[in-house]
Amino acid sequence: MISLIRQSKACHRASASLLKTRAFPVSAIKPTIRFNSTVSSSSSGLIKPAGTTKPVNENELGKVLAETIRSQGPLSLAAFMRECLTNPAGGYYINKDPFGKSGDFITSPEISQMFGELVGIWVLTQWMLQNKPPAVRLIEFGPGRGTLMSDMLRSARPFKQFENAIKEVYFVEASPTLRKAQHKLICGTNELVHDKATGVYSSKSLYNGTPVFWVEDAKILPQKSSDKEEFANYIIAHEFFDALPIYQFEKVADEPGVSTKLPSQRPASWREFVVDYCVPKPTELESSILLPNQSIVKASAKNGGKLDKNDKPVFQLGLAPSWTVPARIIPKTHPRYDALPIGAKVEICPDAWEITEQMAQRIDGTKGGVLVVDYGPSDTIPVNSLRGIKDHKLVNPFENPGEADLSTDVDFQAIKVAAMQARPNDVAVYGPVEQGDWLHTMGIGARATMLANTQTTEEGKKRVEQAYNRLVERGGGAMGKLYKVMAIVPKGQGKPVGFGGDI
Ligand SMILES: C[S@@+](CC[C@H](N)C(=O)[O-])C[C@H]1O[C@@H](n2cnc3c(N)ncnc32)[C@H](O)[C@@H]1O
Repeated sequence: MISLIRQSKACHRASASLLKTRAFPVSAIKPTIRFNSTVSSSSSGLIKPAGTTKPVNENELGKVLAETIRSQGPLSLAAFMRECLTNPAGGYYINKDPFGKSGDFITSPEISQMFGELVGIWVLTQWMLQNKPPAVRLIEFGPGRGTLMSDMLRSARPFKQFENAIKEVYFVEASPTLRKAQHKLICGTNELVHDKATGVYSSKSLYNGTPVFWVEDAKILPQKSSDKEEFANYIIAHEFFDALPIYQFEKVADEPGVSTKLPSQRPASWREFVVDYCVPKPTELESSILLPNQSIVKASAKNGGKLDKNDKPVFQLGLAPSWTVPARIIPKTHPRYDALPIGAKVEICPDAWEITEQMAQRIDGTKGGVLVVDYGPSDTIPVNSLRGIKDHKLVNPFENPGEADLSTDVDFQAIKVAAMQARPNDVAVYGPVEQGDWLHTMGIGARATMLANTQTTEEGKKRVEQAYNRLVERGGGAMGKLYKVMAIVPKGQGKPVGFGGDI
């Protein structure tokens, strides 16, 4: 089957092989400043804030965030991340194309066409397993430049019955800039129409003229069927979940002010890490270590004073001094958090639950499927994984809001729980399995050989080999091991291909 895939002109994208992906080893992340908002210096981890933070007049989003914190108090990490990533004025994804050599990072579909083709083949195998439903809707969350979908659609070409069954393509995309890039790649010069009433954009693809739609919110995606046809929804989310905002919590022994009991007798509770800012004096920014009696942290909510245009607000993550509403509610939503000991830290992404529910609801009793590819631990809860990425380097995620990509490890087990809770009788979840294993099962070896054989130069052959290695290698935190693949499919169908199943 793999051998039927034809080579496209864009035969490789691996020349950027030295570029970094978004999944860096957590150990490489620069620690953020810890403080407690009583400004005591009990925190042993105080380190020098990065001195490159811009004055407020050079970073509008930073200014807005600092003013918000000044008037309302520290922000949830999730709120801070959401603004940094998708604020309509200055959010990271809104106005820029972050991919490739001139961008900030590179992803698997941008490394090689093989990746998107094999995702396309996975969808084809699902469709065949499900007795070839006549109407297929392909849905992609966070499609970036549209490269993966373009490679998927091209890989469907040799399978005419399947290609003809693809009746609609949907993208869930928050970025107007990337929506334009996706439209150009998938639809060429076909008109992009905006329905102001629904907010949905639409066009026609270069592949059979298939209608293509863009929505910003998963809730707007059509449910299972249209007026005329029962659609099988096949949903792809590659490096999407890691871009969603998270909360961080720590389990503590006591809750001051609530109980009069001795600390050892008080019930454990969760405390939230929140984002505050301070305005260090320039000389203090230059000292490398902040000693206990030299604390420069002026918790902004208590600071009262307005920011001058040359002020450099330094955003910081710290443990809230007492309970917050998210800390009371979010970690209580599942026993896996409650079971953790005092001192445990967790990252929780409620947006991922909500989106998984939306995905699971679009799987019919017998058709459809979801493929999630991302990085994160297979079976533990992520901890301290927030990272900022700019110019292919790790940066402080709290510096210059909106200018760096922010991402976190994905909690695959939370996705599994969310899917099973949403549709306990109708869906089954498989994986996560390592990307390298999954790609090998899908036939990347044969595909790479074929692609290399079509290259006319040694350099071309080498590029295919490098791209192949990059996608599957497992050593030293390489993509083949770091990235994982998970599938949500109709319960009765059995194991999908790539997860121990066959067709
Ligand atoms: C890291 S990129 C991954 C792109 C692509 N899947 C790839 O692998 O090349 C994240 C994508 O998700 C989109 N995105 C981020 N947050 C989003 C949100 N809350 N809703 C919809 N799209 C979002 C970004 O605009 C971007 O297209």
